[in-house]
Amino acid sequence: LKGGWFKLYNCRWRKAELKMRVLLTGASGLLGGYLLRELKSRGLEVVGWPGPRDYMLYGIGDLAEPGWIADAFREVKTDLLIHAAALSRIDACFHEPEKARRVNALASGQLAYLAANVGTRMLHVSTDLVFDGQKGNYRESDKLLPLSVYGSTKRDAELMVLKHPEHVVARVSLLFGPSLTGRVAFFDQQLAALRSRSPLTLFEDEWRTPLSLAVAARALVSLALSRCRGVIHIGGPERMSRLEMGQRLAAHLGLDASAIKAFRRDSVPAVEPRPRDTSLDSSRWRSQFPDVAWPGYEDALPEMGVA
Ligand SMILES: NC(=O)c1ccc[n+]([C@@H]2O[C@H](COP(=O)([O-])OP(=O)(O)OC[C@H]3O[C@@H](n4cnc5c(N)ncnc54)[C@H](OP(=O)(O)O)[C@@H]3O)[C@@H](O)[C@H]2O)c1
Repeated sequence: LKGGWFKLYNCRWRKAELKMRVLLTGASGLLGGYLLRELKSRGLEVVGWPGPRDYMLYGIGDLAEPGWIADAFREVKTDLLIHAAALSRIDACFHEPEKARRVNALASGQLAYLAANVGTRMLHVSTDLVFDGQKGNYRESDKLLPLSVYGSTKRDAELMVLKHPEHVVARVSLLFGPSLTGRVAFFDQQLAALRSRSPLTLFEDEWRTPLSLAVAARALVSLALSRCRGVIHIGGPERMSRLEMGQRLAAHLGLDASAIKAFRRDSVPAVEPRPRDTSLDSSRWRSQFPDVAWPGYEDALPEMGVA
């Protein structure tokens, strides 16, 4: 059977996959596009909520204005909620902290409550930026010390979601891969700059464990469909700087990397401090989901059409 009735993870299966209806928030976003594709490929019924940019098209509202959420959630009658919507740009959160709090924290708390009330499990997508970056190789139990408004609102969301023991929080690392929605994201800009040999400046002293969008989508859907609870880290297998990512991308595509310039964190004025090393230790995820492929950087690129 497509989707696998009998697929069992260590976390244990919870319901026959094919009968499930999944509500996906943030469906119009970078990760949302990959999640939508992954859910569809498993034969699941998906109701996608895009964000306010496509409001006129779909009639779905703004999570910053929560009056509509409860009715719309009830109407969907979902078995599973994957919450990927967020005000995800760090600078936007800094400039509009109240909006960031409402979208990232309060709406997540409200959705977690609504879902728990009707026995629906929720997977909440969080970030490595809940850490201050002093230590690196963070485990799920490490202390949350966000440096930015974005990180603080995502931390607050986690706390609200985790009040409901049936829900799960996945902290994902920096995601890479081309946008599926036609909206140009950082990776697309980087690719275009490399192809046109335009100057590209990348940090050499900030480290993450980058994860491909395709792998992230597979990992998150498998996690959502499992019985795993609490917090789980889903990062890539290698700790890398943005500079190394750019250089390896150029080498993978046989492009000239000489237009890439390195810069250091302290050479760039920033309104908020930037965490130095938010690499994630993903051993909990790997031990519970060993069958989800975990390719290295170059091996993950062709699957997303970057070859
Ligand atoms: N990208 C990364 O490297 C990364 C790393 C770690 C964690 N994450 C997390 O992964 C999730 C998805 O991120 P992403 O990179 O896909 O971000 P994205 O491309 O900016 O997508 C965010 C989604 O949320 C929606 N949204 C934004 N504001 C909203 C609002 N006021 N009401 C309702 N929906 C709203 C957006 O709608 P519109 O289409 O209307 O804009 C879009 O669908 C987020 O929770 C983010 O914190 C991302």
